[in-house]
Amino acid sequence: MISVNQMDQLRFRKIGNDVIIWPMAKIVSPEVITIGDSVIIDDFVFIMGGAGTWIGSFVHIGSHTSICGGGEFFIDDFAGLSGGVRVYTGNEDYGGGSLTNPTVPLTYRRPERSFVRIGRHAIVGANTVILPGVTIGEGVAVGANSLVTRDCEPWTTYFGSPAKPLKNRPSATILELEKRLRENLFTPDGQYIPKADRFFKDGKKLS
Ligand SMILES: CC(C)(COP(=O)(O)OP(=O)(O)OC[C@H]1O[C@@H](n2cnc3c(N)ncnc32)[C@H](O)[C@@H]1OP(=O)(O)O)[C@@H](O)C(=O)NCCC(=O)NCCS
Repeated sequence: MISVNQMDQLRFRKIGNDVIIWPMAKIVSPEVITIGDSVIIDDFVFIMGGAGTWIGSFVHIGSHTSICGGGEFFIDDFAGLSGGVRVYTGNEDYGGGSLTNPTVPLTYRRPERSFVRIGRHAIVGANTVILPGVTIGEGVAVGANSLVTRDCEPWTTYFGSPAKPLKNRPSATILELEKRLRENLFTPDGQYIPKADRFFKDGKKLS
């Protein structure tokens, strides 16, 4: 695990409590990256901060996942990217209107800088590819090996290439569990209580 000192060296724009970044994760431009509380970034994750990266709280980014493309990336609270997910926040010109790839000077290229947004409680299955300009709504589940080319509607399960809706994903249990977690792990005014500061309740240490 990365130590607090190493995190200081990485100089994130902002970083919360109880964040674990495994030592083989590679993070470029940490000064444009904001990370919330209770986040885990596994070994072999590759993140380019791009035009700005916002990682919420209770977010997991699984091993071998990459986030790059030079645009903006948002992932909201309680969302997760499984292993091997590829998120692209920008693109080269695939239409033949310019030269492509970063070895070529910019005057000959037309890179598009875009965004990817992933909503609260979304979960993205292994080896999924998410293309630029996509918003994955709150509570969406994306099946393994999917190709997400368009927005995904909230609380829906998608899979396939291109990803299509499979069925509704019920929200009630997830939202009720989040409410209970917040009652236990946040102060009444909504501040996250770090693990080290947690108290005992009914004889049990909250975790
Ligand atoms: C998409 C998913 C959530 C659907 O799960 P489910 O609701 O239990 O659906 P089922 O397993 O009943 O599958 C329904 C149908 O879709 C197909 N299917 C399921 N997931 C698929 C996927 N990712 N890609 C293509 N087809 C898929 C199944 O083969 C089945 O087809 P059939 O009706 O012709 O037999 C699940 O299959 C999945 O991909 N989960 C991601 C798992 C993952 O990546 N875990 C990593 C650790 S977090």
